Amino acid sequence: MWGGRFSSTPSALMEAINASIGFDRRLAAQDIQGSVAHSAMLARQGIITEDDRAAIHEGLQRVLGEIESGAFTFSTALEDIHMNVESRLREIVGDPAARLHTARSRNDQVAVDIRLWVRDAHDRTDEQLTALMRALLAKAEPHAATVMPGFTHLQSAQPVTFGHHLMAYVEMFARDRGRIRDSRRRLNECPLGAGALAGTSFPIDRHQTATALGFDGPTRNSLDSVSDRDSLLEFLAAASITAMHLSRLAEEIIFWMSAPFGFVRLPDRWTTGSSMMPQKRNPDAAELVRGKTGRVVGSLVALLTVMKGLPLTYSKDMQEDKEQLFDAADTIEIVLAAMTGMVQDLEPVPERMAAVAGAGFSTATDLADWLVRSLNIPFRDAHHVTGRIVSEAERRGCTLEELPLEAMQTVEPRIHQGIYDVLGVENSVRSRTSFGGTSPTNVAEQIAWWRERV
Ligand code: ARG
Repeated sequence: MWGGRFSSTPSALMEAINASIGFDRRLAAQDIQGSVAHSAMLARQGIITEDDRAAIHEGLQRVLGEIESGAFTFSTALEDIHMNVESRLREIVGDPAARLHTARSRNDQVAVDIRLWVRDAHDRTDEQLTALMRALLAKAEPHAATVMPGFTHLQSAQPVTFGHHLMAYVEMFARDRGRIRDSRRRLNECPLGAGALAGTSFPIDRHQTATALGFDGPTRNSLDSVSDRDSLLEFLAAASITAMHLSRLAEEIIFWMSAPFGFVRLPDRWTTGSSMMPQKRNPDAAELVRGKTGRVVGSLVALLTVMKGLPLTYSKDMQEDKEQLFDAADTIEIVLAAMTGMVQDLEPVPERMAAVAGAGFSTATDLADWLVRSLNIPFRDAHHVTGRIVSEAERRGCTLEELPLEAMQTVEPRIHQGIYDVLGVENSVRSRTSFGGTSPTNVAEQIAWWRERV
């Protein structure tokens, strides 16, 4: 491609470190799409002839067919997907192929290829997040009133409902979807036509190619166009946050299904056995969702590190963007699919959740609130009184509900029978009617609100 200036071929090591065809072949369809748009524009602008354009288009379709069918022979000597495609095009159509690269550089070529690819990745992720939100909504709906223990510091805190807990993840994945949509909107500008870095002297029409490729318009600065990888970084950042959310849910599923909790069952199809312990059912899929977070976050950090010291404009360092993008996109795709499947198949065990919901004196706040409401005790003092009642229950080895009235009255004589109305977990949950709180009516409303938006 540049033999004119060179007197010897690259050493084998140079070829090995330099070639990207091993991974950037995944850009073949986008590369050909970009070349079709570019050559159509060149012809319309009178820069190449209509005959050349027709030959190029026909040839590119053949190349695409060969790649899709697996008949194409990729060559490492040809470095990357751009030169592999162009070289094969030349074999097929001859001279017109040599005019395709007029007013174009591999720098703006790879920039547009990768942007088309990452745009599709955004759309896939958006769809998958939507499917996961739907699965969570469907699982939450029948459990708006199913009581479970709520934790802070992983210690019993206050009872909540299982539906409310699942809906917390709907909020998280909705924000993730928002980030993806936001980034998708920002990336939709076309860098093709920036040339190597400075634009071109040919009378190209960048608006034409931008429209043909589904972009809102062309990017405005040629230097930025060839040196910017923000769309990949934003995808990796959004994917990292999604992976972190998925990992937290995976972690909860893992301990929910362990015997001491027993809050959920996960069917066999999501678990594996142990080669030694016959009783085991291991939540490998959930563990891998949790574990693969490291790859996605790793990709983000790797690409940020590649980019951070680069002067304008293109440097070959940037070739390192692709493996990070592809790996993170593949990973987020499989973990989103696996999590959606697990959520669909998750079988909650309400009896177990209810049995544990009252543990750890989880309605102590309700007791304190009752003292405030019924006896007009200031909250700080009510907190102290409740603390003493809790120690008394602990000393006797009973729950707050089981503690006799006289025992409470020795701490605060004005306490009366009415206290027992708030000590049960069902009542506790039902009373949390503040906006966003866990009361079953609230949860049902939240589910309905999201149903309309998902
Ligand atoms: N394979 C290269 C990459 O992925 C394509 C761009 C090469 N440009 C250049 N000036 N060598 O970044």
